[in-house]
Amino acid sequence: MLSVLDALNGQLQAAMERAFPEATAEARQSGVPLDPQLAPASKPEFGDFQANGALPLAKPLGQPPRQIAQAIVVQLKADPSFAELCLDPVIAGPGFINLTLRPERLCAEVAARLGDPRLGVPRVAEAGTGAGRDGAPVVVDFSSPNIAKEMHVGHLRSTIIGDCLARVLEFRGHPVLRLNHVGDWGTQFGMLITHLKQVAPEALDTADAVDLGDLVAFYRQAKARFDADEAFQAASREEVVKLQGGDPVSLKAWRLLCDQSRREFQTIYGRLDIALSERGESFYNPHLQAVVNDLRAAGLLVVDDGAGCVFLEGVSGKDGKPLPLIVQKRDGGFNYATTDLAAIRYRFAPAPEGDGAGRVIYVTDAGQASHFAGVFQVARRAGWIPEGTSVNHVPFGLVQGDDGKKLKTRSGDTVRLRDLLDEAVERAEADLRRRLADEERTEGDAFIQQVATTVGLAAVKYADLSTNRITNYQFSFDRMLALSGNTAPYLLYAVVRIAGIARRGGDMAAASGDLQFSEPQEWALIRELLKLDAVIAEVEEELLPNRLCSYLFELSQVFNRFYDQVPVLKANEPARSSRLALCRLTADTLKLGLGLLGIPTLERM
Ligand code: ARG
Repeated sequence: MLSVLDALNGQLQAAMERAFPEATAEARQSGVPLDPQLAPASKPEFGDFQANGALPLAKPLGQPPRQIAQAIVVQLKADPSFAELCLDPVIAGPGFINLTLRPERLCAEVAARLGDPRLGVPRVAEAGTGAGRDGAPVVVDFSSPNIAKEMHVGHLRSTIIGDCLARVLEFRGHPVLRLNHVGDWGTQFGMLITHLKQVAPEALDTADAVDLGDLVAFYRQAKARFDADEAFQAASREEVVKLQGGDPVSLKAWRLLCDQSRREFQTIYGRLDIALSERGESFYNPHLQAVVNDLRAAGLLVVDDGAGCVFLEGVSGKDGKPLPLIVQKRDGGFNYATTDLAAIRYRFAPAPEGDGAGRVIYVTDAGQASHFAGVFQVARRAGWIPEGTSVNHVPFGLVQGDDGKKLKTRSGDTVRLRDLLDEAVERAEADLRRRLADEERTEGDAFIQQVATTVGLAAVKYADLSTNRITNYQFSFDRMLALSGNTAPYLLYAVVRIAGIARRGGDMAAASGDLQFSEPQEWALIRELLKLDAVIAEVEEELLPNRLCSYLFELSQVFNRFYDQVPVLKANEPARSSRLALCRLTADTLKLGLGLLGIPTLERM
């Protein structure tokens, strides 16, 4: 109900102005206009909103705050647009103004959402609250695994969180660039290419001649040889130089390795329904020297012990000396930070030289926080982050096993993502088969496969998104697949329950026009339903998907209470249609919200 909040805020401000013209003028002159301090009510019995703006006026006006509140209320009640929106305000405690929306107003809000595919969530262009350059793209840099290395649970978290944030931003109407900043460049390619040339030379002249198979094992073999064999080391170093010099055979080998990795990553993205554009580190290669040159020209570059550095302001090491961000190694090579500087410069540069972004968001583990703080600071000092734009590092904690330690398989190996997703689906299937048997249901394999896949993958995503991302997160199949609690199965089940009402004869589409409500459970559900727009705006602002999860969980609980306590199909008209309308709006809200989390819903499960 952001639009209602906006309207009320304006009405309150005007009322304060009329009640206290002098104080208003003074406040405006000092640059801090009077603030009604409007917020959602802290308890349902206080109504919908409360305005606390009378309290800070007590001192400057030399009046008791209740008296000030009273004067504001008198003016409010004289405003016909306010009277249309709210019941008579109530002054409570030291001088809070409690506001309750008129029931007919709540009904009108519900009716408006019933015919609106966006369920009352404005697009940024309409709301005009988009961060950064208006209408400019938002870059979401997420997933970003490394070629020929394991895509691990950390990358999975980045993939799931980044996808959700991108979906929310897209839904709000921002153009979003979903960028996969894969680690596809660096000295490790020297040994990988050397190894490839020796063990599978035929791969280089015939298309698809060899399947390199498990690239992670391939990486391990190459590394083992590199560590043991000096001639191999020398060849690898030469290979790096050749690759950087653009030697066609080396480039071909490099491309082959990247393609192979890409195929493996893609199977994960495909299963999770993740859209991403690959723009790896190699893309910025041609810009690295220019980045260092620019830093030198800006007077920021210091050569320290042979390496090119920028010393960071306000960041010092153990010895109290400022810490450097190294941008060029002693051997002249560039590093992860140089690439990120080139990337940030490119992303903010206006088109056609760059992306012209208004906001850039990086989703990585919290361990990279100081890297990004350094990159952001240097980019800012170099003038690459334009006025009115923003950058955010979106950090997340570690994924731990049930035992609180790093997630490992029983044999102690790192968990492969493919296996992890398989296990989630297998367990979901076992749970489902057990439940079907208990309930003597006879659905076939196609149904079981579809439901188990949806539930298994939804559980993995939801478990990740529903915890506050900043804390470490304990991975537990049992918990994430439970049918009760704040889990994907619980939310999916609420949607299924409503689909069941429709199947049993509840024509939900017909319910719209004349809505009439009388029960507290109905009003509670309505108030919950109407929070969607505010929750989404908050997720957009704070980049915390768990807020959306908590909301959907709360909504499901309020709905279940309503449905358990108030008859729907057996009620008489107009209550029956009105309640069916609430069922439909609940299902639509859950579907929309789960969709923004990247989770498809089911009609039966
Ligand atoms: N490839 C990096 C890793 O695996 C993540 C890259 C994140 N994005 C960035 N622009 N640095 O840790």
